[in-house]
Amino acid sequence: MARRDVPWVDWANYYSTADAASKSAWPTRNWRGINGALIDLEYERVELIRFNLFDNSGTFEQYKKGRGDREGPALKTWAEMRLPPGHPDYDSVGGSGEQLCRGGLIRGRNLTGICNDIRNPLMGSTGALFARNVEFETTFPDAGLTENTHNRHAGRVSLMTPDPQVVSRRLFTRLQSDSAACADGYGKTGYAKDANCDYKKAPFFNVLAAFWIQFMTHDWFSHLEEGHNSAEYMKVGCASQKVQGVETPLKPADVARLGCRPDDAMERVYVADTTNPATFSVGGRNYLSRAPKTFRNTNTAWWDASQIYGYDQRSRVRVKRDPRDPARLLMVPVPGNTTEGDRQGYLPLLEPSDPMNPDWAGQEATGFPDNWSVGLSFLHNVFAREHNQFVYEFRRRAAKTPDEDSGLRNPARPKDVIRYRDVSPDELFEVARLVVSAEIAKIHTIEWTTQLLYDEPLFRGMNSNWNGLIADDNGVSRALSAVVTKLGESRKAKVADTWYSVLASGPGIFGLGSTKRGWDLSNPADVNGGVNHFGSPFNFPEEFVTVYRLHPLVPDLIEYRDFHDANVIRNKIPVVETFRGKATPFMHERGLANWAISMGRQRLGALALQNHPRFLQNLQMNRLKSPTQRIDVAALDILRDREHGVPRFNEFRRQYGLRQLTSFDDFINRHAPPAEQAEQEKLAATMREVYGQHRCDSTKVITAAQLDSANRPINDCLGHPNGSTVDNVEDLDTVVGWLAESTRPHGFAISETQFVVFILNASRRLYSDRFFTSSFRPEFYTTLGVDWVTNNGPDAMYEAKPVNGHRHQPVSPFKRVLLRTIPELKPELDQVVDAFDPWARDRGSYYSLEWRPRKGAESDEAFARSSRSSSSSRH
Ligand code: HEM
Repeated sequence: MARRDVPWVDWANYYSTADAASKSAWPTRNWRGINGALIDLEYERVELIRFNLFDNSGTFEQYKKGRGDREGPALKTWAEMRLPPGHPDYDSVGGSGEQLCRGGLIRGRNLTGICNDIRNPLMGSTGALFARNVEFETTFPDAGLTENTHNRHAGRVSLMTPDPQVVSRRLFTRLQSDSAACADGYGKTGYAKDANCDYKKAPFFNVLAAFWIQFMTHDWFSHLEEGHNSAEYMKVGCASQKVQGVETPLKPADVARLGCRPDDAMERVYVADTTNPATFSVGGRNYLSRAPKTFRNTNTAWWDASQIYGYDQRSRVRVKRDPRDPARLLMVPVPGNTTEGDRQGYLPLLEPSDPMNPDWAGQEATGFPDNWSVGLSFLHNVFAREHNQFVYEFRRRAAKTPDEDSGLRNPARPKDVIRYRDVSPDELFEVARLVVSAEIAKIHTIEWTTQLLYDEPLFRGMNSNWNGLIADDNGVSRALSAVVTKLGESRKAKVADTWYSVLASGPGIFGLGSTKRGWDLSNPADVNGGVNHFGSPFNFPEEFVTVYRLHPLVPDLIEYRDFHDANVIRNKIPVVETFRGKATPFMHERGLANWAISMGRQRLGALALQNHPRFLQNLQMNRLKSPTQRIDVAALDILRDREHGVPRFNEFRRQYGLRQLTSFDDFINRHAPPAEQAEQEKLAATMREVYGQHRCDSTKVITAAQLDSANRPINDCLGHPNGSTVDNVEDLDTVVGWLAESTRPHGFAISETQFVVFILNASRRLYSDRFFTSSFRPEFYTTLGVDWVTNNGPDAMYEAKPVNGHRHQPVSPFKRVLLRTIPELKPELDQVVDAFDPWARDRGSYYSLEWRPRKGAESDEAFARSSRSSSSSRH
């Protein structure tokens, strides 16, 4: 109770939700603690599904009004999701009549993402519009669309105010104890190991996890086309700062002190539609039918590994298949690389004839090649090997039992058995893509996220999204799955959404509808029966992109090791020296195993203020037509969100049902150790300088999203007396706000504002995808494919010891992938439980965040006193 009077959620204070010290000697208390947290989280999801879905593509009015006797949130199909005339598959799906994908179009993940939902062919496909999670009226705060918005910011915010480079330099820069040793992220000559760039480290998450999430975002979304934006350029700040609350031009001395660059310029974003949106009214209230500006997702929104396999004809050309067996991705030997894993080869390079941005020359060839570095090179190589490992095992079984049923079916001839020997290379390629995509989704859900949010409620929550709370595939789970799919057919919002979400956590979202008795490939209701879009076509919202601006995760220097003697740090290799084409020689010369051990053992950067990589603030980009050809990516994060009209932090939180802050001091965690509190106080003071203060006016209502604790409208004074001087906390850019959150649940590498966005969208990404629900079947994946995804490989393997008290834990899926693709890592990996936890860390017995070496790694220099962690999680 003592800890409730803060803006933050409180389940993190329940019994057993942190490390061993949070456990009670009374088991019922622990049980209540964990289950209480899970109930809180489910409530949050239910509310988010109810209040935060805003589609931009023209369906929003139907969502509010419903259609016929069906309530809006229970709608299943939309005219806006039809393929338009002129689309190459228009006729195949039914042309101007009822559209239904069938035959070859429903067999696998189509290149452009069409026909995932067989009744809404266009949904989630390349070029569809980004959605929103916030009311359209509250977007583009600088435009002051409503009186509330106008009152909230009173003309103080615009694209350039507060100045994005000033925000970056004052609030994002990593402070250095020895700037010569860091050299703005360039380290020392010869990659000398005495180079050092200080950064705040998260003790329970490694550098592989940082590049993993970049690898994921390249699958889910992009605002750019082939790595560039529109042709129009804009200045990007370093022009003014607030002096005693007044925006004042920077003097040369200020520029020098800040280290920003007034001559930087950048392309503006592509905009899809800037026309005035139509309005409509329901229940006496007026609504915008979409946001005033919309933007296209130039990638498929599905979790379909499109970063590997491509998302349109142009990107597909970059994906090379092996001419000796076109089911395989082409992997080539690298002379001199002779380990067991190296025999599986490395990705070939982009060829001059490939469609590409000239900046990508010299890189490995893949679907999405932008912002390449050794980290992305690593993951793309690993998953290309994994694709081939699946093909290899399939071919092995085909050779052994060629006449056996592979499980695969062709929807055009659903009754015909397809034997192993009948599966064509093209079919096998697409099956392998399905398998790799599902493995990636599984790794992300139950291995990456459970380490990102390292506590027991989230371990259970994420596993329930995948396997269900009931866990094993048993009668109860199957029966519940049938009930849930039935609920999804309801015409009533409450049943189709709320009860659906609550009960789906029993059997799990993954595989919903696939275990139906008598499931029939020729019945569209079975093929598509497990998806639920909750009345709003699936695509990511702009607000999702905002909370994935995770650049602080990346260290400036990689502590390079050799896997033969992993305790020794040999070099400090600047990430920027591996940028784009420079990644590839580094990968080839040093090999996957050494990079794995280097990134596996090193802690990543905490998501905190003053923790952006120096190199990203000074990134050289040759394509830019600006005097400096450099860009501050941290400042660009701020600017892009403003271009996309993301509400500022406080309204963002209110829109998602979270509590607002009343001053910058609310960021200070009064339960943190004194040294941390002192740092947070300094940061709050800096925010005050950068964003300023004003005299408040309690007659001005600033939001329609929530009421205050006394059920009155929230006004400009945020609870302070009328006329008093208050912080401009309403103006705070959302990225700055979530980085400043220092009160977090135990083991949370992210903040609660980011987390709430994930609860909604990470769940929807599974709920909406047929291949993760009703079409997770041998007819699409083959029998081997279904087993591979279920068992994390060709057969099941279990950890010998309990994991955080859980017995009989399957060996985690990414660890299995690494064991297959880089087998020489076995001695190291045998001691790893979650591949995203620093590999040499002692994990203790229950969600320990300690930075202590495990047995055998005592001499690892990363554990020396001078490199102590600064935890991002302060419970
Ligand atoms: C070597 C490491 C990285 C480099 C060089 C890099 C570079 C960039 C650049 C230049 C942009 C700006 C694109 C634009 O708006 O014009 C960008 C955007 C972005 N980056 Fe990174 N980045 C890196 C790592 C990461 C990581 C680890 C994440 C974690 C998720 C990440 C997430 C994002 C996101 C979400 C965007 C916005 C993309 C969009 O709007 O489509 N980046 N990055």
